Amino acid sequence: MVMLDIPKAELHVHIEGTMEPEMVFELARRNDVELPYSSVAELRSRYEFSDLQSFLDIYYANMAVLRTRRDFRELTAAYLRESARQGVRHAEIFFDPQAHLARGVEMPAIVDGLSEGITEGITEGAGSGVTAELILCFLRDQSAESAMDTLRLAEPFLDRIIGVGLDSAEVGHPPSKFTEVFDRARELGLRAVAHAGEEGPAEYVREALDLLRVERVDHGIRALDDPELVDRLRREQVPLTVCPLSNVRLGSFSHLSQHTLPRLMAEGLMVTINSDDPAYFGGYAGENFSAVREHLGLTREQLRQVAANSVQASFLDRERKSALLAEVDAWTE
Ligand code: ADE
Ligand code: ZN
Repeated sequence: MVMLDIPKAELHVHIEGTMEPEMVFELARRNDVELPYSSVAELRSRYEFSDLQSFLDIYYANMAVLRTRRDFRELTAAYLRESARQGVRHAEIFFDPQAHLARGVEMPAIVDGLSEGITEGITEGAGSGVTAELILCFLRDQSAESAMDTLRLAEPFLDRIIGVGLDSAEVGHPPSKFTEVFDRARELGLRAVAHAGEEGPAEYVREALDLLRVERVDHGIRALDDPELVDRLRREQVPLTVCPLSNVRLGSFSHLSQHTLPRLMAEGLMVTINSDDPAYFGGYAGENFSAVREHLGLTREQLRQVAANSVQASFLDRERKSALLAEVDAWTE
C-alpha cells in the first residue's frame, strides 16, 4: 500500500485499543472470562459505532480479559511488531490504568507487563532501531480525586512513564476538572498531553493548553470551529495528533473524503497522523497514512512533512529526533 511504511512516530495509540478480536478470545479463554459473543466474527460485527460513547462501551467491556502481567506484555509486543511493519520507528503509547485497577488488576502487573512488552516487541520483531514510551491516561469521566489517587499509585513506576494524558468520554468532562492533577504530574517531571476537541468544543482545546499546559493536543479537530484558536495553534505550532480512520468510524465525518485534515494543514497547523484504536477502527498507523493518501489526495511530500512533524512533536531527545528525521528525508516509496 502506498505510504504504508514511511518512517514515523506514533503519538496517539491506546494500547487497549490494539487488542484484536482474536486476542480478546484467546485471553478470555486463558483467564476464564465469559464473553457475550460466540465468535470472533460476531465480535467484529459489533464494531459499528455511532459516536465515541458507543465505542467506549465495547472497548471497556473487552478490556475485562486483560488480567495479568503476561497479558499486558503480549498485547504490547504484538502492537509494536505490527506498527513496526507499518513504519513506526517510535511510539508513545497510552494506557488506562483506572479501567484495570477497577477490576482488581494492580499497578505493578500493568506497568511491568507493558514495559516487558516494549522490550519483547523490540527484540522479537519490531527491530532494534524502534523505541517506545508509556503515557498514563486519566479517565475524564471519573473524578479528579480518582485521577490523583491513580497518579499516586503510579509514583513508584515513574522511571517507566514519560507523561500523562486525558481520555474517555469528552463532552461534559472539561480539562479544567483535572488542573490540579496535571500540576502534580508536572511537578513529578512528567510531560502532558490531553484529548480535546474530538467531540467536545474548541473551548476544551483552549482549557487543555491554558490549564493543563499540554504540549500536544490529541485529536483537536473541533479547533476549526474557532478561528482565533486556529491562529493560536498556528502561532505556537501546537502539535495535533489527528486520527483519521477513528474520526470517521466514530461519526465526526461521514467519509474519509470529508475529513478536515487538508484544511488543518492548509491553516499551517502542526498535524500528525495516528491510529488511536487500530483494532477497532480498521487500520494501524501506516494504514491511516495510506487511507489519507488515497481519499484526501495528500501528496507524498505533504505526508513526508506529516511524518517529520510526528518526530518533531515526540518526546524523543534532540539526537534521536535528528536521526529519525534523516530517515524520513531519505525514505523513498
Ligand atoms: N479511549 C480510547 N480511545 C479513545 C478516544 N478516541 N477518545 C477518547 N478516549 C479514548
Ligand atoms: Zn485517543
